[in-house]
Amino acid sequence: MPAVVVLGAQWGDEGKGKATDQLGSRVDYVVKFNGGNNAGHTVVIDGEKYALHLLPSGILSPGVTPVIGNGVVIDLEVLFRELDALIARGVDVSRLLVSANAHVIAPYHRTIDRVTERFLGKRKIGTTGRGIGPAYADKISRVGIRVQDLFDEHILTQKVEGALDQKNHLLVKVFNRRAMTVEETVEELLANAERLRPMVVDAALVLNEALDAGKNVLFEAGQATMLDVDHGTYPFVTSSSATAGGACTGSGVGPTRIDRVVGVIKAYTTRVGEGPFPTELLDDSGEWLRQRGGEFGTTTGRPRRCGWYDAVVARYSSRVNGLTDLVLTKLDTLTGLATIPVCVAYEVDGVRHAEMPYDQSQFHHAVPVYEEFEGWQEDISGARRFEDLPPAAQRYVLALEEISGTRISAIGVGPGREATISRFDLLD
Ligand code: GDP
Ligand code: IMO
Ligand code: MG
Repeated sequence: MPAVVVLGAQWGDEGKGKATDQLGSRVDYVVKFNGGNNAGHTVVIDGEKYALHLLPSGILSPGVTPVIGNGVVIDLEVLFRELDALIARGVDVSRLLVSANAHVIAPYHRTIDRVTERFLGKRKIGTTGRGIGPAYADKISRVGIRVQDLFDEHILTQKVEGALDQKNHLLVKVFNRRAMTVEETVEELLANAERLRPMVVDAALVLNEALDAGKNVLFEAGQATMLDVDHGTYPFVTSSSATAGGACTGSGVGPTRIDRVVGVIKAYTTRVGEGPFPTELLDDSGEWLRQRGGEFGTTTGRPRRCGWYDAVVARYSSRVNGLTDLVLTKLDTLTGLATIPVCVAYEVDGVRHAEMPYDQSQFHHAVPVYEEFEGWQEDISGARRFEDLPPAAQRYVLALEEISGTRISAIGVGPGREATISRFDLLD
């Protein structure tokens, strides 16, 4: 019985929410293992749209136990706002479990995130401003607040005091902001503690016991490989491990127990925020993709930067994640193009690179080498078998499969749950 990781193979927003939701009826647990409410995962069920930020997409499937793992950073106010909105729409959220070791986003993390960006000016990352980076920084610096700390006011107060000792110097002396008091911070953190308490568990124990009992567990990543703090386009990344290894460290399930690693990848590429993006289109083609694909951020509403499919990125993702499968999404968005360029290599200062250059400066200067594929004009949104696709669309998919290093097991042809062509079963 499988443990399957579903992650983003590009710069995010590949359609991880839809891919997770689709397996929802066949899995027992869906675990979010990294990130926080910087994510925006969209799921469309019977024409109804749900945008999930902090909660695992599996929460929409009756029968699934959603789990927030230790690798996540939790903004408690956002958590309960999101839960209440789902309850109001009739979703049963009563099975949600939260790791006692997950870290909490405190009010000062949000403030520091926003003022740091302002101070960086032209060098900013373009963060979502949710306090994600500062919360992870505190975790690594060993001054973070964990979920379990919320249930001992004495310890919580001590930890907040320790954190604010440093933070207030930064806020007041460097950023010219007002100091935060220990009392107001503790009060805000405790506001939802009692409501949270019944959900808190040793999530690693629960998940390992579930696997022992032959249950299916799906690990749903936030963000994506190219935003991973180690393997992404540092420093233009998020602050967590969004690659396959993060599923283990962020949940307490060992690598020997993982059966499949599925990379979700768009039939073209998008990116939100700053940082290098070799196939980015700053012309009409980019605008065409943005409008056709509805490429506006689920979390911040920002227009997404758009470009052609980058097979160098796909191969890199296949490698650093050990991908077993790809789910190719939004093939329908490309309908209507006469030809479709695909980046097969980069050229840097006249030298051809078949693989990602390890030197970030070279990546910043990478010029895509394109191969052109024939487009198709037929509406493909009703296709449910590979053979239903027009021959040119079939050839495009098979070409991507060949140059991306991993088999394409499913193809998305629309946002709805049903709009998918399955080639190989992801849970087999
Ligand atoms: P995530 O962050 O990876 O879960 O992706 P987002 O939800 O941020 O962005 C993906 C967008 O594409 C959402 O609006 C989805 O509803 C939509 N989507 C996902 N798969 C497909 C597909 O195959 N075709 C089309 N047209 N839309 C899709
Ligand atoms: P999902 O899960 C796309 C980007 C931000 C910024 C950088 C750092 O929906 O794919 P952060 O607030 O995390 O410190 O911002 O990462 N980013 C995302 N881009 N999709 C996401 O999530 C993202 N989460 C963060 O735009 O460039
Ligand atoms: Mg998203």
